Amino acid sequence: MLLSKYPEDKRLLIEDALTNFFPPTGNYPELLYKAIRYSLLSGGKRFRPILVLATAEIFGMNPIDVIPVACAIECVHTYSLIHDDLPAIDDDNIRRGKPTCHIAFGEDMAILAGDGLFAEAFYLIAKRQKTDNPSKIVHVIEELSEASGPRGMVGGQVLDILSSGKKIDLNTLKFIHIHKTGRLIRASCRIGAILAGASAKELKAVSNYAEHLGLAFQITDDILDVIGKTASLGKEPGSDERKNKATFPSIFGLEHSKELAKKAADDAKEALKDIDKDTSPLASLADFVFERDK
Ligand code: IPE
Ligand code: IPE
Ligand code: MG
Ligand code: MG
Ligand code: MG
Repeated sequence: MLLSKYPEDKRLLIEDALTNFFPPTGNYPELLYKAIRYSLLSGGKRFRPILVLATAEIFGMNPIDVIPVACAIECVHTYSLIHDDLPAIDDDNIRRGKPTCHIAFGEDMAILAGDGLFAEAFYLIAKRQKTDNPSKIVHVIEELSEASGPRGMVGGQVLDILSSGKKIDLNTLKFIHIHKTGRLIRASCRIGAILAGASAKELKAVSNYAEHLGLAFQITDDILDVIGKTASLGKEPGSDERKNKATFPSIFGLEHSKELAKKAADDAKEALKDIDKDTSPLASLADFVFERDK
């Protein structure tokens, strides 16, 4: 992986902030916080919060000032991983290089740790996110709730389940990917731009970038499920085949899927041309998504 393409400084800011928001002691019920910390503070690329920081910075805001909402999005993402791994959904045993939450804490605690993280995300935004204009916070909540729920990630996850073992067309597969993964990635970029006061035209271009980026991200995730290695991925490859999932490699083969991922990453970069700022950090992140091995 080309580490230079990844903003390590921003990742470390997020790691620190997450640890501060979820300290090791003083929490009750202890077991619930243990399960939350186990999954949340266990690595992960922190790709979505980095997008929030990078987008806010491009539109002139200090990235430090969007850390609470960036961490909130990581909480939503981590909840989605905990629930995605449950026996009733993907039934996976390894995540972020460790036994999945339900293996370590039981299904009951894993479900509740996910529920807790989802609610805590909105608590973080309401309680900790500062702004020059409170209506921006309402807008952020609208974006994140819509992206996470039935019109976004959860809707995509449902179609992912319903499409298992079925022959589906390209549009349905794209719909799944754009929703189960793309919507949270899109919300991360839009939220950074909204808080930084981007114009309507800029916000549209950011959304366009992020939609292609989200698709590239999930096509690559599907590819890595075939060719990735547990050591770098932190999860066991072969999960999609085992569950008979509709994926890009299963429908188009590996080579064509790689071309489609590259095309989506290139389309993302192309969309940046409509933004009259230095968008190179977002272009690098599009390259990272396509080239990543984790
Ligand atoms: C995995 O997300 C689940 C998808 C939505 C594809 P990531 O690949 O961002 O996982 P972490 O956060 O780095 O563990
Ligand atoms: C997950 O897609 C999307 C989520 C909303 C979590 P996958 O099921 O392909 O993600 P991994 O491969 O388990 O990380
Ligand atoms: Mg899944
Ligand atoms: Mg999964
Ligand atoms: Mg996957």
